[in-house]
Amino acid sequence: MSHYYSENPNVPLKTRTIEVFIRGQYFKFITASGVFSFGKYDEGTRLLVENAILEKDWRVLDLGCGYGAIGIVVAKFVDYVVMTDINRRAISIAKKNLKINNVRNAEVRWGNLYEPVKGQKFHSIITNPPVHAGKEVLREIVINAPKHLYDGGLLQLVIRTNQGAKFIKSLMEQTFKDVRELAKGSGYRVYAGIA
Ligand SMILES: C[S@@+](CC[C@H](N)C(=O)[O-])C[C@H]1O[C@@H](n2cnc3c(N)ncnc32)[C@H](O)[C@@H]1O
Repeated sequence: MSHYYSENPNVPLKTRTIEVFIRGQYFKFITASGVFSFGKYDEGTRLLVENAILEKDWRVLDLGCGYGAIGIVVAKFVDYVVMTDINRRAISIAKKNLKINNVRNAEVRWGNLYEPVKGQKFHSIITNPPVHAGKEVLREIVINAPKHLYDGGLLQLVIRTNQGAKFIKSLMEQTFKDVRELAKGSGYRVYAGIA
């Protein structure tokens, strides 16, 4: 079975380019079959990106970058972004999307969860997590986040209200000094955990 979170999706490659207006700017994204949100900009991702706290001098990690929907927008507002994913097709599409959006202050790295950023710290980790990969993966993302955040750094994530929000919020409350709800709407919640 091939999922958007497989290392090598086995569905034939199809691409579709979309244009989106987000955080006051236009972006063009190549989207692909076998990569999350083919042919569209995900609504949960939009709620997260529109409401994320970003500062000019920040280094940010986009964990599970897909075609680059989060990292590429965020790069316009911060100093540097590292984008990672386990799906090799996502990695190749995200690299192309960096180029077509003239983003030079970001890079894409392949690998599982935090492996590509071993020993590195960020001001924020921003993610639309792979809920379908299972609770264990969500748990790993949340509980290991503080190791990769500076003191006071933020894990910012979006989750469907009816698909894991309670689980994630309580996990974040056990892991972080404080947890805030940054936004809600269209069946999603955006949470920030402060390390
Ligand atoms: C819900 S999608 C979000 C994609 C993109 N950030 C967006 O908002 O459109 C989650 C992403 O996490 C990736 N992913 C799943 N399991 C992973 C893992 N173990 N390590 C790294 N990335 C993973 C998937 O391939 C997918 O691209």
